[in-house]
Amino acid sequence: MEMYPKKRKVLKFFVPGRLCLLGEHSDWAGMHRMVNADVLPGYAIVSGIEQGIYATVEQSDKFIVESTLPIFQDDRFEAEMDRDELLAVAKQGGFFSYVAGVASYINDNYSVGGLKITVTEMDLPIQSGLSSSAAICVLVARAFNQMYKLKMNTRGEMLVAFRGEQKTPSRCGRLDQACAYGIKPVLMEFDGMDVNSRQLEIGATFYWAIADLNSRKDTVRILADLNKCFPFATNEKEKKVQEALGTDNKAIIEQAITYLQEGNACALGQLMNRAQALFDEKVAPACPEELRAPVLHSVLQDENIRPWIYGAKGVGSQGDGTVQFLCRDAGSREKLMDYLQHEKGMRSFSLTLKPGQSVRKAIIPVAGFGTRLYPATKGIKKDFLPLIDRDGNIKPAILILLEQLEEAGIEQVCLVVGEEEQEAYEQFFRALPEEHMQKLNDEKRGYEEKIVRLGKKITYVHQQERLGFGHAVFQCRSFTENEPVLLLLGDMVYQSFSETNCSKQLVQAFEQCGKTLVGIHEVPENEVMHYGILYGQWENEEETLLKTDLIYEKPTRDYAREYLRVESAKKGTQYYAVFGQYVLTPAVFAELENNIRNNYMTGGEFQLTDALDQVREKYGLYGYKPNGKSFDLGLPEAYRQTMWVFGREQTLTTLC
Ligand code: UTP
Repeated sequence: MEMYPKKRKVLKFFVPGRLCLLGEHSDWAGMHRMVNADVLPGYAIVSGIEQGIYATVEQSDKFIVESTLPIFQDDRFEAEMDRDELLAVAKQGGFFSYVAGVASYINDNYSVGGLKITVTEMDLPIQSGLSSSAAICVLVARAFNQMYKLKMNTRGEMLVAFRGEQKTPSRCGRLDQACAYGIKPVLMEFDGMDVNSRQLEIGATFYWAIADLNSRKDTVRILADLNKCFPFATNEKEKKVQEALGTDNKAIIEQAITYLQEGNACALGQLMNRAQALFDEKVAPACPEELRAPVLHSVLQDENIRPWIYGAKGVGSQGDGTVQFLCRDAGSREKLMDYLQHEKGMRSFSLTLKPGQSVRKAIIPVAGFGTRLYPATKGIKKDFLPLIDRDGNIKPAILILLEQLEEAGIEQVCLVVGEEEQEAYEQFFRALPEEHMQKLNDEKRGYEEKIVRLGKKITYVHQQERLGFGHAVFQCRSFTENEPVLLLLGDMVYQSFSETNCSKQLVQAFEQCGKTLVGIHEVPENEVMHYGILYGQWENEEETLLKTDLIYEKPTRDYAREYLRVESAKKGTQYYAVFGQYVLTPAVFAELENNIRNNYMTGGEFQLTDALDQVREKYGLYGYKPNGKSFDLGLPEAYRQTMWVFGREQTLTTLC
């Protein structure tokens, strides 16, 4: 099945804006440590937001940026990939200076051609402290990276975006490029030129609202004035700025991490108020014209708003750009947003941070007929095929999967079955009649109770027509209730090489990266044509997390050799195929719905791979290599092998 043209012509991108919850300005302040070691490192808590910039990208001899969006007013940017020409535009300021700055940095450091970037949608307000400039810089860096296979990981793209923006008059810092992360709070540390980041756990749902103040601010001026207070403070005013962005900020961030973890929105709201008060007292005097911010303060002091919020503060470089509120709950946020729109004429949007996004639900589609195992499948479903597990018991594959899911902390499982098949599953998970129970020893009776308990976690949904794997997955949409879910194939079983089973490893990886995740494993070149293959760059030194640039279903060997070889510092080049486990985000279900509504099929079926690729384009997709192995049951020879090897723990690595 041919899903991509021989060569990719047009790539699509989405880069979100980001919201700095706390710790603004500490990024560039932390960089002054390079000159004055007494300056403290900066700390900030940042989250990606739902709004951003969408674009399509094509290769071109020149560097072109255009859009039919009204905001561009038919303005268009076109330049040769030439240092002087790009640099001259970068220095001028304005929207095109950002794209030119990044293109110029790329041009200086890589041998590449140009790009034609068409901005197709932009729902991110500009100049409002939500890093629209960093978003466009990351987008350009990512576009060059993917189009010319520059093999940068996310941090590499962030660095290029930063360096590009540094060529413009805007002096934005290092936290802006955090728009490369998902909707999860990330702690960033700025120590000289080093930037470290880690995702933060949160203990409850937090309801933010962000509103455009419909005013103006001069970021360049704010940054210029505040930078004058570094690296060495020469008077009381400058000392206070250093104090606010150093010791005070560190204490506030430490408190905020605790409140986020505890899910204590009330305390976090009060902390936001305190952070704003400190900023007004110690930082604003260094740039009073911009930071007095009358519009911001009139909103912060608005009595009508108080009942709906726990706290509020400015955003980004502060000033009269944007205001953020931590709301009491979803209902209060709705009232606040309505008030802002109708009473103040301020456009606002929401940001919901959910606890851990931990995965509680799993889905297993088992409605396929299993043509390749006919005639066995005339009498038995594939997932009821027996295997000997590690405990020596012979079990239907589905039971092995359910046990592993329980071990991974999954609370509910949805099985996609044909309507006529449900009874067989229910029968299996029903308690044995007393007559048979009596024949079992104590250990097996205990196990029988476990089977019944596992059965109680199952919800059945029906696939009326067998329209493909993606279609089967889509039947679980309402079961997911918009939570991320683990997806397992019904004709695979998994064995971990570590204490943590493969499903749990995937869930943990998802908690780290927060993006749609596809389990992957190495396959030899002569097998690529049988699987979905992922191509991308490793994000981490252990080479377990792959930022994916391409997912291609059953490629030819030649195509794979040219486009799908993943470079490894440890193992040369490798191919990575889908492992059989995934963590799907709500975005995948939205794409599946779209494809089903538009009757978009590949190979006569609604494919999950198509939806995953659409999600990759819009939001990013990661491959994750669990420490373990998947075993196929779907083909006669594979089943024979699986029967032989699966469950033989001691000898597994030598047998595989
Ligand atoms: P397969 O692609 O192996 O299809 O499905 P299949 O029908 O089971 O087997 P063959 O190709 O005819 O031999 C992978 C998983 O998706 C489920 C299957 O039950 C299996 O667990 N599936 C597939 C569905 O639930 N519905 C479908 O329409 C297709």
